[in-house]
Amino acid sequence: AAKTITHTVLALPAVVQAVPQTGTSLPPQRWRSSTSSMTGYSELARERSKTVTSFYNQSAIDAAAEKPSVRLTPTTMLYSGKTPDGSHVLSSARYLYNELPVRIAHRIKGFRSLPFIIGCNPTILQVHELYIRAFQMLSEFPTITDMKTEAQYCKMIRQLLDDHKDIVTMLAEGFRECRKHIQDESLVRLFLDNTLTSRLGIRMLATHHLTLHEDNPDFVGIICTRLSPKRIIEKWVDFAGRLCEHQYGNCPRVRINGHVAARYPFIPMPLDYILPELLKNAMRATMESHLDTPYNVPDVVVTIANNNIDFIIRISDRGGGIAHSIVDKVMDYHFTTAEESTQNPRMNTFFGNILNSGPQSGPMHGFGFGLPTSRAYAEYLGGSLAIQSMQGIGTDVYLRLRHIDGNEESFRI
Ligand SMILES: Nc1ncnc2c1ncn2[C@@H]1O[C@H](COP(=O)(O)OP(=O)(O)OP(=O)(O)O)[C@@H](O)[C@H]1O
Ligand SMILES: [Mg+2]
Repeated sequence: AAKTITHTVLALPAVVQAVPQTGTSLPPQRWRSSTSSMTGYSELARERSKTVTSFYNQSAIDAAAEKPSVRLTPTTMLYSGKTPDGSHVLSSARYLYNELPVRIAHRIKGFRSLPFIIGCNPTILQVHELYIRAFQMLSEFPTITDMKTEAQYCKMIRQLLDDHKDIVTMLAEGFRECRKHIQDESLVRLFLDNTLTSRLGIRMLATHHLTLHEDNPDFVGIICTRLSPKRIIEKWVDFAGRLCEHQYGNCPRVRINGHVAARYPFIPMPLDYILPELLKNAMRATMESHLDTPYNVPDVVVTIANNNIDFIIRISDRGGGIAHSIVDKVMDYHFTTAEESTQNPRMNTFFGNILNSGPQSGPMHGFGFGLPTSRAYAEYLGGSLAIQSMQGIGTDVYLRLRHIDGNEESFRI
């Protein structure tokens, strides 16, 4: 039903245009004709308001949005993650079954509180509608009592993860179209921070459940029990390096130092989103500040520091730094210098954000989402992302994340 709803909303201008034609087939008395088209208009208006209300009048969503979300610590996920009799799979499914509709309902509430001009944007409406559909599918699913229903539930979750994979791009696009009408920057930031981090949380929980079925000795669900920061950095260095080479003909060498032998339990998923973004930025700055000598560029240096509370990954480049005039803006959603980029402007129109569904090929830069999204993810996980620009030399980016088994309280998903 939701599908036709949006289309009615989107098709309105065409319908309104069609109205005067109904008038022309009526007897040529001015007063009658005008009354009739008035009726036509008011019917349409009523139809339209029904359509709009259907987005807002959904008592099941209202009820779910009143419930608090139950956030889990990774330690809970780790220790309830494996039982010999397999009962952990059913209890994990039941947790998701109760939790996902609540989280989705909270997000729908967020869409409803957007300023009218943003809420009406076709792309934003499409995302809003995806959330409503997800809510309906999740809340109509029968209670999970046995492994057979659990398998069907997993199938639906997989489907939903796939349906929602392009949402980051859609939000980036939708907000880019209409944010010029919004004076209050913090409103956009708050909405995107909440929506993107809640999405990360939902995807982590859903993927955790799906991977509980797999047998991988180093993993409990999505938690890697002995994650090597060096290894995961190397993986994304390769990835960003290939993109960089494709775009600039060469890429800087990346040296990794510090606690290169460290291993500890952690969740790779957020790192899989953040690291490629930071490395792409460092490589792009390096290449663009050395356009005359692309085969002789300074290295990027990544330093790992591990301690009993958190771990820090510093990415240092010698790409000239971030100018004083823009350094306060680089963490804003949609702030980018991609348009000024001398390199291959074609790449900038290509929309295939790496933030959507993880490892994929995508462009080096262009959405102005890399830094703000990475910071939101880091803060959601009790960490931080800080930038130190040494104007004229280069940039240091510090990614700090809390251990899940550290001496201080960890985060909740
Ligand atoms: N290491 C860096 N050195 C110099 N400038 C940087 C660096 N990292 C980011 N910037 C500046 O900050 C801007 C915003 O970065 P951000 O990663 O958020 O967006 P982007 O790279 O332009 O696009 P994308 O959404 O694809 O990441 C960049 O356009 C660039 O001007
Ligand atoms: Mg970037």
